[in-house]
Amino acid sequence: MSFCKTIDTHGRPIILIGMMGSGKTTVGKELSRLTGMPLLDMDSIIEEQLGKSIPEIFRDSGEAHFRALETALLRYLEESPTSPAGASIISTGGGVVLRPENRHILKRLGYVVWLDVTVEVIIERTSRSSNRPLLQTPDRFEVISRLCEQRAPLYEEAAHFRIETSSCDVLQVVEALHASAKQYFESFSTR
Ligand code: S3P
Repeated sequence: MSFCKTIDTHGRPIILIGMMGSGKTTVGKELSRLTGMPLLDMDSIIEEQLGKSIPEIFRDSGEAHFRALETALLRYLEESPTSPAGASIISTGGGVVLRPENRHILKRLGYVVWLDVTVEVIIERTSRSSNRPLLQTPDRFEVISRLCEQRAPLYEEAAHFRIETSSCDVLQVVEALHASAKQYFESFSTR
């Protein structure tokens, strides 16, 4: 890849939002590898904290409880003196934008990028996934279409930038993301 790898984010994170299967984790890992910025995966942090998988949390405590855990984690990342957020890459769960408070925290916390993707691509990428409780349904097309429709305006509201990823490979997405983040933080520093 031709671009300079490091980005001076002024100690702030790059945050990836988007539907399940939009590539947040894959893109986050690759961007982390290229920039040296650590990757924080919100789902993984919650799983580690509770010692349970996401499906187990949904099964034992319900979706509302999981949403509360997401908000608590975001508050910690924003407010705690020991927050690891800093100059990191944060990969979020697809439903993190559902709560208005989360959308506000995300936008204050860092540079938020929406990895947008079509319903068809989500269906293909998540076809073998058994760790996503919301997709354990026979009518995946209907469920994913509804979630995309409901969430699109929320992703739009929370994001500083949107990348349409359906026809891109991972490196193309990483390159677009890197360029936009660099531009954002450069203009940020001259404000
Ligand atoms: C969810 C997405 C999942 C996970 C949970 C709920 C959602 O994360 O947080 O299953 O509501 O879209 P990924 O987007 O990483 O799959």
